[in-house]
Amino acid sequence: MPADPARSYKWVTVVCSLVSLLFLIAAAVRENISADWRAHQADFRAILEAKSKDAAGRAAARRLPIEIRQVTVPALHAVDRCVSCHLGIDDPRMADQPNPHRTHPKRLLAIHRVEKFGCTVCHQGQGAALSFQEAKAEDYFWDYPLLPAALTEATCASCHNPRALPAGSADKLVLGMALFEQKGCNACHKLDGKGGPLGPALNNVGLKTKHQFVRANLKGSQTTWNWLAEHFRDPAGIVAGSLMPSPALSQPQVEALTIFMLSLRARDLPAEYLAPDKIDEQYARLHPPAPDGAALFHRYCAACHDTGLYSRWDKKFQRFVPGIRNAAFIRTEDDECLGENIREGRPGTRMPGWGPKAGGLSEAEVAALVAYLRTSAPAMPLPPAPAHGDAHRGGTLFFQECAGCHGVDGKGLIAPALANPVFQRAATDAFIAQTVRLGRENTPMPAFGRAGFSETDIGDLLAFIRGWQPPARSQQP
Ligand code: HEC
Ligand code: HEC
Ligand code: HEC
Ligand code: HEC
Ligand code: HEC
Ligand code: HEC
Repeated sequence: MPADPARSYKWVTVVCSLVSLLFLIAAAVRENISADWRAHQADFRAILEAKSKDAAGRAAARRLPIEIRQVTVPALHAVDRCVSCHLGIDDPRMADQPNPHRTHPKRLLAIHRVEKFGCTVCHQGQGAALSFQEAKAEDYFWDYPLLPAALTEATCASCHNPRALPAGSADKLVLGMALFEQKGCNACHKLDGKGGPLGPALNNVGLKTKHQFVRANLKGSQTTWNWLAEHFRDPAGIVAGSLMPSPALSQPQVEALTIFMLSLRARDLPAEYLAPDKIDEQYARLHPPAPDGAALFHRYCAACHDTGLYSRWDKKFQRFVPGIRNAAFIRTEDDECLGENIREGRPGTRMPGWGPKAGGLSEAEVAALVAYLRTSAPAMPLPPAPAHGDAHRGGTLFFQECAGCHGVDGKGLIAPALANPVFQRAATDAFIAQTVRLGRENTPMPAFGRAGFSETDIGDLLAFIRGWQPPARSQQP
């Protein structure tokens, strides 16, 4: 009798089924019998038994069930199984054990009870995971992987005003907040509606996931914190062509600023989770103290204008940034013009507007800045400007003497844009004439009066420069 041709196929089917079954059994054993958490719980039972002082304690330790443990916190939408491995986390006797059995550091869980807070509200990570790799979730599709322990202070700010916490609780976060002000990051970044427009607003930068950062040039761990730290070390090395200057930070400063960036996130937390100091902070924000001009200058202007005492060459902008505290400048400009320049900026140049509708500073803050700049020198009465002369001749002079720095079209080259509508509106003829006569000490702007320019030359130049004046507002369509 010829062999049944289907027979060999049946054998193949049987073998395949058996292999599949073996895999299923192996997986079940791994998940249920040899799972990491079981081994950790068995270890913990042994530690507990060794630490027990009497027979009753030892018996109780031996009876400790080996089972999945979890903290369910509906108000935070959290189901955290971290305690399946971190069994000793709120047991003060475990302070001398290695992780995962060790007592939580800094008595934080004595204040934030595990049943009310869980773990992920502070640590991030995948709460429901039962292996440490999955709890860390760095290489998984998980938006907020476990923060390295050293960066976990970042989340304190969700519920606290970090500056109100006792020393030793969130020191690195507080340092990061101070560095943000010292390094003048607000010059280019808005935070809470205030700041310059050159870089992105940072309000919720801590909510960004790694997929929202360009990581083509990021080496090492593909986490948001590594991106932030590497970007601080060399912004243009991470984002090609970035206009952000390298902030020159030490390693602890990089860590502190990274923690502060990660802390910037609006979170929807129930009111009972907000500490009283957070509520005080929100109240204080609505009632700010009188503005301090020097602090405002440091925070919003210094990143570009530096001390403001001289003209600063910016190699990224390829432009001189005017010395706005330079007495030679301040003498020639009255408070009203200063205020207008600050409020409106110089549209089309790197100088942003700072008024309430632009950079978000209040009128009181603009006034405090003007008063601070004014401390360099009182406004001097300016000699009158010569009458406007021959614009054609003025143009020739301008192309010969000025265009190399200010640009043939007045749009600015290495020196400020004179065709700029805000400049044209804020600058008086007397101011322009005096600037041309005396130049500005400590800046590249030459004193043309000393170089032999007559009042007639200046009158001709004025006629030409005013040709860039925008039509008065009433005449605009
Ligand atoms: C499967 C067991 C297990 C689970 C589940 C688990 N962990 Fe751990 N955890 C460990 C072990 C083991 C270590 C020590 C690892 C090491 O030192 O490499 C550890 C270490 C840590 C550390 C210190 C790491 C560091 O950077 O020094 C933190 C923080 C931590 N776990 C938090 C959590 C949180 C939060 C969860 C829940 C989202 C969690 N763990 C879930 C086993 C676990
Ligand atoms: C109130 C916020 C908060 C909560 C809630 C919290 N932690 Fe932490 N945890 C921290 C901070 C902050 C650190 C880092 C402390 C430091 O500076 O060493 C930390 C550190 C740790 C470490 C590392 C300790 C070490 O030896 O380096 C482990 C493990 C840990 N937490 C586990 C947990 C587990 C498990 C839970 C939940 C049962 C939890 N934490 C709940 C804030 C918290
Ligand atoms: C989910 C919200 C939340 C997070 C996150 C949080 N806390 Fe708290 N914290 C609270 C609440 C609520 C209290 C209780 C305030 C009270 O009842 O007086 C508190 C109290 C405290 C206290 C004692 C009271 C005080 O102000 O001196 C300290 C210290 C503290 N937290 C430190 C921290 C640190 C450090 C972190 C970050 C690792 C942190 N907390 C993260 C909500 C939080
Ligand atoms: C002269 C302007 C300027 C200054 C000053 C500046 N930045 Fe930036 N920053 C930028 C620009 C432009 C970008 C966008 C290009 C890039 O990502 O590098 C940027 C990007 C960033 C990003 C990435 C944000 C995102 O959502 O992608 C962070 C974070 C950041 N800056 C933080 C800072 C901090 C902190 C400081 C102060 C130490 C600072 N910046 C100072 C201009 C500036
Ligand atoms: C070598 C380059 C250079 C030349 C040439 C030059 N300037 Fe300037 N000028 C500058 C710089 C730089 C500033 C900004 C100075 C500062 O930092 O305050 C400036 C400022 C000015 C200002 C004030 C602008 C403002 O925003 O307040 C006026 C007006 C001006 N120059 C007119 C002229 C005229 C007219 C000429 C030609 C007769 C001329 N400049 C030639 C470099 C130059
Ligand atoms: C992102 C860089 C940047 C920041 C931040 C910045 N400035 Fe400027 N500012 C400039 C540049 C560049 C110019 C020259 C405009 C031009 O090139 O036409 C300028 C011009 C000015 C002028 C006109 C100076 C003159 O010679 O007439 C004033 C006044 C001024 N800035 C004040 C401020 C104040 C006050 C702040 C902070 C609230 C500030 N700036 C922040 C870049 C900046």
